[in-house]
Amino acid sequence: MLIDIIAGARPNFIKIGPIIAAIEEQTKNGIDIHYRLVHTGQHYDKKMSGDFFEQLNIPAPHHNLEVGSGTQAEQTARIMVGYEKLLLEKPCDLCIVVGDVTSTMACSIAAKKINNIKVAHVEGGIRSGDWTMPEEINRIVTDSISDYFFTTSEVANRNLRNMGVTDERIFFVGNTMIDTLYKQMPRFSRPALWDTFHLEAQGYIIMTLHRPANVDNKDNLRELINAIVTSSRGMPLVFPVHPRTAKMLENTGITASNLHVIEPLGYLEFNYLVQNARAVITDSGGITEEATVMSIPCMTLRDSTERPETCTVGTNELLGTNPASIAPAFERLFSGQWKKGAIPELWDGHTASRIVAQIINLFSLK
Ligand code: UD1
Ligand code: UDP
Repeated sequence: MLIDIIAGARPNFIKIGPIIAAIEEQTKNGIDIHYRLVHTGQHYDKKMSGDFFEQLNIPAPHHNLEVGSGTQAEQTARIMVGYEKLLLEKPCDLCIVVGDVTSTMACSIAAKKINNIKVAHVEGGIRSGDWTMPEEINRIVTDSISDYFFTTSEVANRNLRNMGVTDERIFFVGNTMIDTLYKQMPRFSRPALWDTFHLEAQGYIIMTLHRPANVDNKDNLRELINAIVTSSRGMPLVFPVHPRTAKMLENTGITASNLHVIEPLGYLEFNYLVQNARAVITDSGGITEEATVMSIPCMTLRDSTERPETCTVGTNELLGTNPASIAPAFERLFSGQWKKGAIPELWDGHTASRIVAQIINLFSLK
């Protein structure tokens, strides 16, 4: 059996690593299961792509569609054309897509429209309810045509049932991003900037921002960062800047003595900094999950989340996008009132092997 594994953007690389490792293990066991890794090229900078393959020992992709950046439609179209060509040359038996980026949606459509190739959506069923986010459209479209769903939560299972998906197609398996987190934890690595910025454990905040609603407008971005800086009581703020945010940030002209703007970090360095931080402030999805598992207070600058368990079970809290909500949250953090949180069900580091076991069963592989 040939499985295509699709990855295009930073969070995808972290999610596919454990799935590939679990497939390779079963191939070694003599099971007829093989994969082809397809990188769409949605993210292409070394710091957004290549570094993750190196650090996480992910094999080099068999194909890179090299689609690069563009509008939503341009990227979607280029990915579909590139992947369709590959499938016409050599079809696969199952296409695995992960997460909610444009590559996820585009490849699921291309696969489904060629001879009805089976599609499995890892992290299927999650919903923010916010249709202004491109990711929400990607989730809805992908889930509406996927055959199998490997889910991270009971809420996701419920969302799928509500859209008419029957239980035999839903597999509640946990979170492959957390498989990577547990596996790599012993390798987390203190970056050189620790000494440069005189950081101390629990004595700094790590922040990331890349959602269009927060970063595509200069005034919004300036107000958010100003509010963070003025609420932080001079505590160092380490800010690895996503390429989407970089240019706009320059235009804001913001500087502060405790604001350390740096390039995106490698996975091992970034998560070392999360693990030792006083708190995380972010608009990422994946980072709220990692902060939850590492029990680090997490403030999310969004009005909604597709990962409610990071709030109901974990350490995450939605502050919204109004800068006025930042100061009171920092007050609660500094006065020791942040919730402790727990780890969501099945986020135990063994999700990928559960996924592959289900595939072996579904396709009666020997
Ligand atoms: C994408 C995903 C988002 C995910 C994020 C993870 C979609 C719709 N969005 O957002 O869900 O949270 O990735 O990081 O799929 N750029 C570079 N170098 C790169 C990649 C991007 O400079 O390697 C710049 C380009 O100017 C590009 C912009 O970043 O136009 C946005 O990239 P894009 O892939 O369109 O979306 P992200 O904002 O990265
Ligand atoms: N990450 C990283 N270096 C950074 C910022 C993030 O390695 O400088 C990792 C982070 O640990 C998580 C993933 O990137 O595993 C999250 O990706 P991102 O926030 O870009 O996307 P999202 O999860 O919001 O889709």
